[in-house]
Amino acid sequence: MSSQFKYDVVIVGSGTAGLSAALHLPSSLSIAILAKADLEQTSSSWAQGGISAVLDPEDSIELHARDTIVAGAGICEESVVEFTVANGAECINWLADLGMPFTLDNPEIVDSAFHLTREGGHSKRRVVHVADTTGKALQQTLQAHVAERRNIKVLYEHIAIDLISRHQKCAGLYAYSLANQRVDVFRAQKVILATGGASRVYLYTSNPDGSTGDGIAMAWRAGCRVANMEFNQFHPTCLYHPEARTFLITEAVRGEGGKLLLPNGERFMPRFDDRAELAPRDIVARAIDHEMKRLGIDCVYLDISHKSRAFIKSHFPAIYQRCLHFDIDITRQPIPVVPAAHYTCGGVMIDTDGRTDLENLYAIGEVTYSGLHGANRMASNSLLECLVFARSAARAIADEIEPGKSMPALARWDESQVTDSDEDIVVSHNWDELRRFMWDYVGIVRTNKRLQRALHRSELLEREIDEYYGNYKVSPDLLELRNLVVVADLIIRSALARKESRGLHFTLDYPESSDDFLAPTVLDPRLSKQDRASLASI
Ligand code: FUM
Repeated sequence: MSSQFKYDVVIVGSGTAGLSAALHLPSSLSIAILAKADLEQTSSSWAQGGISAVLDPEDSIELHARDTIVAGAGICEESVVEFTVANGAECINWLADLGMPFTLDNPEIVDSAFHLTREGGHSKRRVVHVADTTGKALQQTLQAHVAERRNIKVLYEHIAIDLISRHQKCAGLYAYSLANQRVDVFRAQKVILATGGASRVYLYTSNPDGSTGDGIAMAWRAGCRVANMEFNQFHPTCLYHPEARTFLITEAVRGEGGKLLLPNGERFMPRFDDRAELAPRDIVARAIDHEMKRLGIDCVYLDISHKSRAFIKSHFPAIYQRCLHFDIDITRQPIPVVPAAHYTCGGVMIDTDGRTDLENLYAIGEVTYSGLHGANRMASNSLLECLVFARSAARAIADEIEPGKSMPALARWDESQVTDSDEDIVVSHNWDELRRFMWDYVGIVRTNKRLQRALHRSELLEREIDEYYGNYKVSPDLLELRNLVVVADLIIRSALARKESRGLHFTLDYPESSDDFLAPTVLDPRLSKQDRASLASI
């Protein structure tokens, strides 16, 4: 029997965006955080590089904004970039006050400044970090503070299914509890989506298992517009090893002088861009893809072995250990690497307070399109976005909400028309098929023909999955697949609508950028599929 719960605010997602928002909200509010798995399985927790912010006197808000806009290939929303960047230092200081153990420039000096590393696209050193496990430290810091707050309850193994609207306002959501194997109703005055991205729509990804675009699909089904879904970031350097599940090799390795090499030892990035290994990610990933296809090789190599052993072990301890586990000593040998899907630059459209198209529904972090990233996110701007928007959304909510306000009961989950599935193979087959055709046809290099093939398949799968969903009881795999197929469809339609190449969207049919496409690609669920595609990008 399902239960009905009531909170002032329900936050879906337990990474940096979700936990920070909870901490910024007033302690007079009752808050539930729905976590899909344990808290180590968030994308935030897996982040290695760091958080970008203007902290060095030699740096400036203008420079950080300019680098972000250049990396975003000319279609960032400049006011949003300025807003985000201008709030960066305050957010870093907030984290430092919470006890975040940032790596210091010189640990022997009292009051040492934070060590700032460098990553692709940044013209200055401006990335604060905790060695090469920044996300883990960040997650642990936020978690420790959440645990101390009696008004915040973390509900583990809860998978959000769908938002509930009443009178065109968000009134709560349905969520599946893995432990109880039942769907509960969560009533809330405000719901915040902080569910992260959708990189698991691709066969190879640097992301944890939960990155299945749940928030994007839920918001879409609830009538919210999404934008720029064609801009999927492929991280250029993930460890390539038959036994290694994709493992990121942070861009900071290149920031600290790592060079990309072909199997014969030749350095190739200078042939593609003057910034060589420190060009923005779209350029580096495409160059690697090009060389792999040209030479028919399985991977390229990233070499940092010219640095001292002590430097490597202190700056990249986790990568050092992980590679050693696979008999690769990075102090002496280059690391085999390949690109993998890493970040979803598009998402649910929001304003700078995280408001979506649906009243009482907010969204923050990778689930969103805020306008910050444009056609390509600059490294380490993502955790920054989570922190800045979590704070602004929490402030906006605090201004509007009345603690403990009564809310009407909502309809219970109805299982009267469904049975237990006797064909789970349909779900696992469709998972594989979806991720493979997305990788093959909607990956780093696209064409109209490949996109059309992918669209055809996603439409078939969407029908099959909808039918399955209508007939059988829900399971975690089915819920995620149902979201992934929505996201795949949004990505393909957005990619078809953008008849140019820009940033992360590269198509052989339109290899140049065009001034006709300076607006975001906006898809509106209130329009028919045909109209959505033709109106996109206007
Ligand atoms: O390479 C990295 O450490 C990744 C950073 C990021 O995605 O921002």
